[in-house]
Amino acid sequence: MSIKFGIIGGTGVYDPKILKDTREETLSTRFGTVQVKVGNYNGKEIAFLPRHGAQHSVPPHLINYRANILAMKALGVQKLIATAAVGSLNPAMAPGDFVLVDQFMDFTKNRPLTFYEGGEQGVVHIDLTEPYCRELRGVLKKAAGATGLRVLAGGSYVCTEGPRFETPAEIRMYRILGGDLVGMTSVPEVVLAKEAEICYATVAMVTNFAAGISPTNLTHSEVVETMRQNNHNLRKLVMKTMEIITEERH
Ligand code: HPA
Repeated sequence: MSIKFGIIGGTGVYDPKILKDTREETLSTRFGTVQVKVGNYNGKEIAFLPRHGAQHSVPPHLINYRANILAMKALGVQKLIATAAVGSLNPAMAPGDFVLVDQFMDFTKNRPLTFYEGGEQGVVHIDLTEPYCRELRGVLKKAAGATGLRVLAGGSYVCTEGPRFETPAEIRMYRILGGDLVGMTSVPEVVLAKEAEICYATVAMVTNFAAGISPTNLTHSEVVETMRQNNHNLRKLVMKTMEIITEERH
């Protein structure tokens, strides 16, 4: 089986609604079993996986990131685009904006972070100078230009453990440290994709200003509602990206 392209859908993206002739594939990995939807778009076979499950039933800290990435790898996926709902710490990144994140800061606390746990797997220290694939970000940027959407190139994603939202004091701290956006899922997903040698990039969609910046208290339904309102734009961006993406990797 060789499906070269994949999409991991974050909050609000449970069905890409762009795939034709879809089928379900069940992948058994050494970390568990994963259901992936496979379909066709513009002559390309694409694998799709909703990160939180089809009904948003898996919280960020309990997602089986390792199984998800190994399932994509087993299908043959070489280029993987993830979507992520994020809060913003940066006044220049407002709800509805898309950001092609290029850095992360890891504030998770209790997640399996690697495929390499010593023993048979060995010990591996991967380079993360460019955590999100530069080439793939370039393709997303080009797609953004073609669609006319407001897509900002570059931003630091602060990954928290969740599932709770942050305190205003935490948000002030992350801002002082240079964070732009806050979310709960990019780590370890981006790290594992790198370990699996899959080109990986994230399209973050700002759903809210973070706690203490937003004039109101945060709710998950606010996040989901903003995602819902902007889903057509996200779909446009993903469709264009899948049209112009190629198999070639450098
Ligand atoms: N914090 C953490 N994760 C999020 C947020 C937030 O404000 N918005 C969407 N995902």
